[in-house]
Amino acid sequence: MELVFKQALKIDEDVIKIKVKQYQIRNSDVFLLGYPKSGTTWAQEMIWLILNDLNYDGAKAFVDERVPVLEMCAYWKGDAQSNTIPECHKNSMEFAYKLKDPRCIKTHLRWEYLPDELLNDTKNSKIIYIARNPKDVCLSSYHYFKNLLNLTDCSLEDFGDFFLNVMYDGIGDYWNHVLYFWNRRDQPNILFIKYEDMKCNLLDVIRKVATFLKKKLTEEEETRLLKWLNFETMKNNSAVNHNALYQKPGFIRIGKIGEHKKEMSIELIEKFDSWIENNLKNSDYEI
Ligand code: A3P
Repeated sequence: MELVFKQALKIDEDVIKIKVKQYQIRNSDVFLLGYPKSGTTWAQEMIWLILNDLNYDGAKAFVDERVPVLEMCAYWKGDAQSNTIPECHKNSMEFAYKLKDPRCIKTHLRWEYLPDELLNDTKNSKIIYIARNPKDVCLSSYHYFKNLLNLTDCSLEDFGDFFLNVMYDGIGDYWNHVLYFWNRRDQPNILFIKYEDMKCNLLDVIRKVATFLKKKLTEEEETRLLKWLNFETMKNNSAVNHNALYQKPGFIRIGKIGEHKKEMSIELIEKFDSWIENNLKNSDYEI
């Protein structure tokens, strides 16, 4: 199983170390960062709409065309499927380059691999980081990859170990990912949000994002946006639900907090708990 994952998730290091590092960013850019399966698509839709003055007509386009995933091109190896892969995935960097300002660009990359101009605050661009409980992130990733790669004999137990031992090449360790931006959350160009806060009080997060992007929403606009971002609406929206694109279920799946409690064994939860405790020894981050 591990080999299949390693091959499927293998990233072209040259693309990352050279092309992404040197990627030119703009003052008006908004970067959305987060570990995969943290609710980044949900955040993509929310941020794009707020940034684009609630252009629901424009939002009919596929979400990755509106908010490209910068490193996506580094995952495609010209396989047989490639005819069905949209341009915004195959040539994600060039695609993002051609977008009109203000752009919103998503990336899952570990911070060390981010464009130099973004890391060094060379431009006035903004960063929104989204985090989610790693046990739910692991569970969501498990179902997603099991479907995507047809891994019928992959157990959650094995997947959990794999997750704890850093499953992704270019994305790296969960805590390295989250804590780098958590520790910088007070910088004026960074907004740190959590999936759980979006679940518990979406309106509050919408208002925080709007303020951060210097946008004002009326009460009516807030109400419509809340409905648009609702789980069932998102699930039935083919512009944001990748299920249709890859003809696999499991992308917008259950959308709840704490589902891991139903599926993870006590042993796996204990492994996660001690890993969390070790990694948060010197941090004020709370899950
Ligand atoms: P689950 O697999 O736990 O259901 P990402 O977009 O980063 O890949 O994250 C995917 C996760 O976000 C999935 O979690 C998906 O169901 C959840 N999600 C997407 N849209 C959502 C929404 N509107 N409300 C709640 N959760 C949502």
